[in-house]
Amino acid sequence: MDMSSVKKRIHQLRKEIDYHNKLYYEESRNIISDFDYDKKIQELIKLEELHPEFKSASSPSVKVGGKITKDFNTFDHNVPMLSLSNTYSNQDLLDFDKRVKKNLNIEEVEYLCELKYDGVALSIYYENGLFKRALTRGDGEKGDDISNNVITIKTLPLKLSESVDLEVRGEAFISKSNFMMLNDEKRLNNEELFSNPRNTASGSLKMQDSSIVAERRINCYLYSLVSDKENITNQEESLNYLKNLGLNVPKTFKKCKNITEVKEYIDYWENKRDDLDVETDGIVIKVNKLEYQKVLGNTAKSPRWAIAFKYKSESKKTKVLDIRFQVGRTGAITPVALLDPVELGGSIVKRASLHNSNEIERLDVRINDSVHIEKGGEIIPKVTKVEISERVLDTGKFKFINSCPACDTELKTIEDQAVHYCPNYKKCPPQVSGRIEHFISKNAMNIEFLGPETVKGLINEGLIRDVSDLYNLKYDDIIDLKFNIDEEDKIRSLKNKSCENILRSIEKSKENEFSNVLFGLGIRYVGKTTAKKLAKSMKSIDAIISADYNKFIEVDEIGDKIAQSLIKYFNDSENLLIIEKLKSSGLIFSYEDTNQIKSSNLKNKIFVISGKFENYSREELQKVIEENSGKVSKSLSSKTSFLLAGENMGPKKKIKAKELKINVINEKEFFDLL
Ligand code: IVH
Repeated sequence: MDMSSVKKRIHQLRKEIDYHNKLYYEESRNIISDFDYDKKIQELIKLEELHPEFKSASSPSVKVGGKITKDFNTFDHNVPMLSLSNTYSNQDLLDFDKRVKKNLNIEEVEYLCELKYDGVALSIYYENGLFKRALTRGDGEKGDDISNNVITIKTLPLKLSESVDLEVRGEAFISKSNFMMLNDEKRLNNEELFSNPRNTASGSLKMQDSSIVAERRINCYLYSLVSDKENITNQEESLNYLKNLGLNVPKTFKKCKNITEVKEYIDYWENKRDDLDVETDGIVIKVNKLEYQKVLGNTAKSPRWAIAFKYKSESKKTKVLDIRFQVGRTGAITPVALLDPVELGGSIVKRASLHNSNEIERLDVRINDSVHIEKGGEIIPKVTKVEISERVLDTGKFKFINSCPACDTELKTIEDQAVHYCPNYKKCPPQVSGRIEHFISKNAMNIEFLGPETVKGLINEGLIRDVSDLYNLKYDDIIDLKFNIDEEDKIRSLKNKSCENILRSIEKSKENEFSNVLFGLGIRYVGKTTAKKLAKSMKSIDAIISADYNKFIEVDEIGDKIAQSLIKYFNDSENLLIIEKLKSSGLIFSYEDTNQIKSSNLKNKIFVISGKFENYSREELQKVIEENSGKVSKSLSSKTSFLLAGENMGPKKKIKAKELKINVINEKEFFDLL
């Protein structure tokens, strides 16, 4: 079978199996025999094994009916996965250098320094240049086969640029920005937040359903070539070789002539690492020459040729002045410790998150306690420990509130979760302002000159009640508007320049595409990605408003929870009124597929496609035509410009084309024309 037939067959099998799964799992119906079903699965698995470049996390071979793999298979590591000995001090580093030189009996040794990425170690096997398997570290001797999850990592190629057999090792991680996005989505759904990127990455890679893993957008850096390769004599060459094979090797490594240069590298990255999108907890120092590495060998636990220099994670002790509760735009209540201000990692910290009622319980934190705070993956630091020994007054355990601090409504909790929320969705003031703040935020409508304080000011003055009112604001309404600066009780008022900027940025926001508007509406569970998928597949707000449950779940990645939420939102007449008002203000409520247009070469040309083609499917050809501004029609007419004819085209079409004097072209001629 040629590649395009393989691809087609895999696609067809997946579609058929998905269909039968849906019937079986959702409607308890069986329209094929178990034997035929298994045959299809086996054929798919075989094709995917032979062509791993077509593997996909959403393939039913990976997750039959949602979940199939109960446990992971384990495999022995070819070479044990060791750990590194750690140091925090310069003296240890100098001692390491001395030991290395003494054992090698040389004066000076060259090192290769890399950053130490804080994630999950992976060992990845390629056979003939094709991805074969990915194992966790496990106990160092044996690891779990988590291939189905690892293939969701977009930066990890399933096919290398050379057809080589290889074992490589690296670190899978969740980037800082992605981690924040994941937690934003959690916040949006009133769900418990992830604690840090490392744990999220490791938890995700051990999940059974790889389609959820795919949503976590895990990344991976490679740092070790395990297999021996001729011509590769040092770590630097290994890294360059991996890079040339198409593997994701970060550029941050550096060759250092001696330990003094190593120290310079360490000092350079101490602060600079904060600017990276990956969490790093130190530096790995490796003897560069592979021959020397062999001579030095390993202890039972770690290699003698490498060491990790770990940066001290900055922690400060301060006092809890008060514990307050914030209400988010979805009503989620977050407890926050107000602190005696303290400098941490270059900024003054006045508050720290206590996450939820479980965390308060776990820490047993109380007002007046001395606490340690640290910066985690989130912007706002967290309390890591309470100094119970320094507690003077026994005030009793701190109690979580029962009613909303803003509107006094009784709080609710979500089953099995420690998250409390205020159900007064429509009237609770922080929820009302939170929705507007979400609408104007960067990822939604990006109304940059309007901030949370001005929004609150506008609400207080009765100038806006919901997002649609923003588009009716006039200069005279907002000039001299009074608003408070957060945390300070200073009153400010809007001056001429700010008013002009605000009105201009509101006007400019009308140019945002449909998915931004849809995301900006703040529909529960509809994050940016879902909004994009919805816009692309449903095309217009009218289609969305009139869609039913079944229509919604047909959309990629929309399941029961999101579908229910969409129905609830669009059944609410107040929401529909807001949409009507936004429409009349000129916001974009339909999808324009501008990205897909690659040229206008086929403008005004109408094609009819018929028969079978050597290299492309009919769908693929249609896509090419549309990407180049042409149109495709099903039947021949006097308006048809070309009949794109493949093999086995019916004779009637040929005759009709001749009658209508339509140009008949084959696949090659079509591409020449293009
Ligand atoms: S080399 C013998 N290089 O740190 C282990 N490891 O404590 C050789 N890590 O399990 C590993 N960044 O998960 C190496 N640039 C890097 C690394 C790195 C992170 C992790 C890795 C390893 C752990 C060792």
